[in-house]
Amino acid sequence: MSRSKSSKKTKFVCSSCGYESARWLGRCPSCGAWNTFVEVRDSSRKSWLVEAEEPRPVKLREVMSIKRERIPVGMGEVDRVLGGGIVPGSMILIGGEPGIGKSTLLLQIAHRLASKGAKVLYVTAEESLEQMGERARRLGIDGENIYILAESEVRTIISRVEEIFPEVLFIDSIQTVYHPDLTSAPGSVSQVRECAAEFMRLAKSRKIATFLVGHVTKDGSLAGPRTLEHMVDAVIYFEGERQLGLRILRSVKNRYGSTNEIGVFEMEERGLVEVTNPSAHFLSETNEERMGVAVISLLEGVRPILVEVQALVAPTAYGMPQRNTTGFDPRRLSMILAVLEIITGYSLRNSDIFVNITGGIRVTESGGDLGVAMAIISSFRRIPLPPGSIFIGELGLGGEIRVVKGIQRRLDEASRLGFQTAYIPHTSVESRDIKIVKIKNIEEAIQSCVG
Ligand code: TYD
Ligand code: MG
Repeated sequence: MSRSKSSKKTKFVCSSCGYESARWLGRCPSCGAWNTFVEVRDSSRKSWLVEAEEPRPVKLREVMSIKRERIPVGMGEVDRVLGGGIVPGSMILIGGEPGIGKSTLLLQIAHRLASKGAKVLYVTAEESLEQMGERARRLGIDGENIYILAESEVRTIISRVEEIFPEVLFIDSIQTVYHPDLTSAPGSVSQVRECAAEFMRLAKSRKIATFLVGHVTKDGSLAGPRTLEHMVDAVIYFEGERQLGLRILRSVKNRYGSTNEIGVFEMEERGLVEVTNPSAHFLSETNEERMGVAVISLLEGVRPILVEVQALVAPTAYGMPQRNTTGFDPRRLSMILAVLEIITGYSLRNSDIFVNITGGIRVTESGGDLGVAMAIISSFRRIPLPPGSIFIGELGLGGEIRVVKGIQRRLDEASRLGFQTAYIPHTSVESRDIKIVKIKNIEEAIQSCVG
């Protein structure tokens, strides 16, 4: 942030206690915190943008029958994550690391909307028109009904938006847009917040659905998008390993839908392709028995996805044993290892342990615990797990296998994909399509799988 003298249209506020000052201060005189002052526009000045009509109280009964309008994008993986389509006037933040494919996804969304007759405006504040054109050529879209604007000054953008008056607006990215009233650099917390607030007013007053792109780095160090999360209606992250083609669209906040849903895509030579049958995608074709491999089921929203866990337990060569995970929370692994050590008596402390979730997906729920534990045991004992089996259940600290949500749905998906046996916790769930083995604790699971 620049510490030069502010213009009169802004003030500085301590982000820790809210103390206001006309100039930037290194230390807050009120709460004593250092380096907490951020520049904001003086809100006592009227925004230049015409405000929407002042709302009046209405009877709850009158709004109960109002159905929310939605504009379906026509890409199943996107619509599911949005909760059935784009809500007019809503603001959606799409966060992700640079290069992950945010611009590609948004241009594909813009294309789908435009080809159905919606008026869309794509504002590129970081790429040139040539670069946009190149991407569009690569994606093979005609671009007939998509308006493009290369501009980064927020007021100019807003006047152009008001001229064109699109149904859906794309701002790529919020970090490169700037407000001329602020002295701080584009991408700073002040700029990002202020510009987003302008777009928010525009979205609400003109009922223009707005997508904001926000870059986040791996360590989350880039100021900006996080501070926006409370402001926008929906926050969606686009993630994946850049080297692998897999991309996951994950909603973490959605005022107009569920936050558990994910959309799965593959980045290909000519854009993102929807993966409508993810389980088949994540499981390897081979049916041979392999040590250290277990299949688990992840429930993402209402959709179960089957994935493979690979574990490798190897003697530690030098000093400190290594614990390494891909797609699995390392702290959860520590917990599983501690339970295995204490309850089963297996000595794992002198082994390097690697746990991999294949295909580049990340496990975010506890239903995979049992499978991870069994993959580790299988590798440690050098005995493959029974072929055609799937493991569902959370591991408790006492070694008990606990019930997780959606077991029936997970079983249905497993039998659909040809699995023959499911190891699950004790519940009332039954199935005619797949053999169910109900287990109380991890010792029982080990006993019945590897003896
Ligand atoms: P991009 O959408 O520019 O990422 P972001 O906006 O998140 O920074 O795309 C990033 C990468 O995707 C880029 O390195 C090239 C690759 N890509 C493809 O593999 N296929 C394609 O069709 C396109 C358009 C891009
Ligand atoms: Mg981009």
